[in-house]
Amino acid sequence: MADPQIPFLDLKRVLSFQRDALVEAATRVIDGGMFVLGENLAAFETRFARLCGVDAVIGVGNGLDALRLTLRAAIDGGRLARGDEVILPAHTFIATALAVSDCGLVPVFADCDPHTALAGVAEFDACRTPHTRAAIAVHLYGQLCEMPALQAWCAQHELLLFEDAAQAHGASLDGLQPGRFGLAAAYSFFPTKNLGALGDAGGVATCDPALAEQVRRLRNYGSTEKYIHTERGLNSRLDELQAALLLVRLQRFEAELAERRRLAARYREGLHHPLLQPLALRTDKPESHAWHLFVVRSPRRDALQAWLAGHGIGSQIHYPRPIHRQDAYRDTATRPLPHTEALCGEILSLPLFPGLTDAEQDRVIEACNAFPGQAG
Ligand SMILES: Cc1ncc(COP(=O)(O)O)c(C=O)c1O
Repeated sequence: MADPQIPFLDLKRVLSFQRDALVEAATRVIDGGMFVLGENLAAFETRFARLCGVDAVIGVGNGLDALRLTLRAAIDGGRLARGDEVILPAHTFIATALAVSDCGLVPVFADCDPHTALAGVAEFDACRTPHTRAAIAVHLYGQLCEMPALQAWCAQHELLLFEDAAQAHGASLDGLQPGRFGLAAAYSFFPTKNLGALGDAGGVATCDPALAEQVRRLRNYGSTEKYIHTERGLNSRLDELQAALLLVRLQRFEAELAERRRLAARYREGLHHPLLQPLALRTDKPESHAWHLFVVRSPRRDALQAWLAGHGIGSQIHYPRPIHRQDAYRDTATRPLPHTEALCGEILSLPLFPGLTDAEQDRVIEACNAFPGQAG
C-alpha cells in the first residue's frame, strides 16, 4: 500500500482535538441570539489581551482591517498624515502594504536580511527620507524582529513604530510580546494562523489608550453611541460566533505553540542537506519564535518542491513574488531589493502544524535529506 499523503496543513486534524467544544460554543451563540458586539467578543478581547500582556485588544473583521484601522486611528489622532511615507518589508503578505496604501499613506519597500528573511534597522534605514513618518515591523513566519533596536531607531528619528503580528501569536522577547514594542500590533485569526478562527477575524493589540478607543470607534461606524457618529468609521467587528470559537481555540493555544516549537526543533535537528538550509534564527531564545511556518532555503527550490510532491508531501511558498513586483504596486517606485528577490526564488515552507505526527515528520525529513538536487 502506498504511504498516505502528508498535507502541508490539515485544519480538520488541528480542529479535531476540540470538535465537540467548538460545536457546543457555536450552539450557545446560535441559541443566545446575539451575534455582534456581545459578551463573547468582550471575553475574547480580555483573554487575548492578558495572553499578549497588553492593555487592550480590539477585535476586528480580519488582519488587514487590524492594520488598516490602526493606521487610520493614527491619522485621525493626528500622529500621521495622508501622504506620509511608511517603511515596510517587501517580503511579507500583501496585506501589510494594502493597509498602508488604503489609508492614503505611501508604502516604501525595504529589503530583508538574507539569513532570517526579516527586515530590521539596517534595511529600514536605507529607505528613510525626510518624508518618512512610520515603520511597520513584520514578525514574518512567527519570528520577532529586532524590536529593541527598531524602537531605538524610531525614537532617534521620531518615527512611529507599528507591528504586523499576524504570524507571531505567542512569540516574546524578554517577556514582551507584540503590542508592547510598537504603538500597536495587528493580529490575524485567519483559520491557518497559530490562533485561528473558523472564518475571518483579526485584532489590534495596544497599550495606547487613545489609539484603542479610536480603533474601537472606527470598527463600529465611528460610533460609541447608537446612531451618533463622531467620525467616518467602517464596519469591521469580530463577530460573536468567531469570538466564541476563538475562546475555545485559546484553551489549546499554549499546547499548540509548544508543539510547533517541538516540531521546529525536530526539523532543525534532522535536516542535513547541502542544498537545503533552514532560515536562520535571529536569537538563541526559543520563545522569540512562534513557528507559524518552517521555511527552508534551497537554490533548487522548484526541484525540491517537485521531489517532495513526488513523495506525497505538501509544501508551499511564502511568498513567491515580493510586493514591489506585484502588478498592484507597479506604480510604486522601489529601490533594488536583491535579498528579497533572491529569497523569493529559493524559499519553501514544510509541513508544520499541531497534529502532524513524528512519523510523518520523519518522512518529510528523510525525503528532504534524500533530495538528489537535480534541476526541476
Ligand atoms: C503578515 C500578514 N499580515 C497581514 C495578514 C492579513 O490577515 P487577514 O488574512 O486576516 O486579513 C496576514 C495573513 O493573511 C499576514 O500573514
